[in-house]
Amino acid sequence: MSPKPAPRPPSSLQQPDALPRYDITKSYVWNYQHAPDPPQLEIPPVPGRWSFCGRPVDSPLGIPAGPLLNGRWILYYAALGFDTLTYKTVRSVERACYAMPNLQPVRCDQLRGGEPSVLASPELTDSWAVSFGMPSQSPDVWRRDIHWTRDRLPPGKLLSVSVVGTIQDGWTIEDLANDYAQCARWAVESGADVIETNFSCPNVSTCDGQLFQNPQQAGLVAARVRDAIGNVPYVAKIGHLATEEAAAELLDAVGPLVDALAMTNSIATTVLSPDGHAMFNGQRRGICGNATREASIQQTEMLARLVRQRGASIHLIGVGGVSRYAHVRQYLDAGAEAVQLATAAMLDPAVALKIRREWRESARQ
Ligand SMILES: Cc1cc2nc3c(=O)[nH]c(=O)nc-3n(C[C@H](O)[C@H](O)[C@H](O)COP(=O)(O)O)c2cc1C
Repeated sequence: MSPKPAPRPPSSLQQPDALPRYDITKSYVWNYQHAPDPPQLEIPPVPGRWSFCGRPVDSPLGIPAGPLLNGRWILYYAALGFDTLTYKTVRSVERACYAMPNLQPVRCDQLRGGEPSVLASPELTDSWAVSFGMPSQSPDVWRRDIHWTRDRLPPGKLLSVSVVGTIQDGWTIEDLANDYAQCARWAVESGADVIETNFSCPNVSTCDGQLFQNPQQAGLVAARVRDAIGNVPYVAKIGHLATEEAAAELLDAVGPLVDALAMTNSIATTVLSPDGHAMFNGQRRGICGNATREASIQQTEMLARLVRQRGASIHLIGVGGVSRYAHVRQYLDAGAEAVQLATAAMLDPAVALKIRREWRESARQ
């Protein structure tokens, strides 16, 4: 397994708190190799009964695809009060990470979608542009690691594995669907409790990153994945939808095939450096964190309404900008079954403990 965590150099981008976290001044590979050991902590329980895709879990708190690069990162966040843990998106082939910066802090208000750009910040903020390009270990590495992780994950927690197809020259959508399905089948064979297909990655420009905007193709892929995984709970992760019509079309295409929709991956826009230059060669990047919360809650409300109108039984998973108990409550009230935190959990690994304490306090009032 990976070596022990190394001491970190001081940096304006690093927070000085005690719990170790992903170091955004270092590469994806470095962070992959330096997962912290799980701490021994007392976790305040969340009142109530909770489920994820209908399966019982100890709380609605989870981590979406992204922060958990491997099994050791999963066990770390499992020990910090998260109950559904998503393995960062994997592929059928090894893929390197984009060049740094992979996480570029930005300064902006709540985004609605359609903003031409946001401004980069030299200091850490509560939102950032994400630019990894969905790197992946080779299947033999991640399949072994998922097996290792499932064996060690405590009861009451679920291991979800996010997969994506990797488009090759000359491939049809059928080929891409088979590639998604192959990854999903491998993940289930390795012990995944839940499969998630990433239908939205704003940082790759090929169709494997934008399937949520093409309901017909998304439906075809979802059907192939469903065939491959049988009754294993299946989540489709989607991006920011511009209109209710687009949401309805997507729901009608994939709804009958999945157990849940997770939203919102991020809101894509270009990023300007503080001196006004376009970063990332002018390509758009997904903004994640606080700036996406209001739009994502609205999208969750809209999907909940559409699901109700259809009398369908599709669970919704709220993702985007959660860092407080009040945000969790907003998503649950909007119709989400569970919520997931990426940015806030990376900035403050103790965030689930704080939310659980806030929850307990509010239940006492
Ligand atoms: C470091 C990082 C890496 C991510 N990688 C993935 C990924 O591999 N697959 C995916 O579906 N989403 C990925 N995301 C998006 C998150 O799953 C999530 O949708 C997004 O961050 C919004 O949640 P947040 O506001 O709590 O950060 C990533 C996000 C972050 C911050």
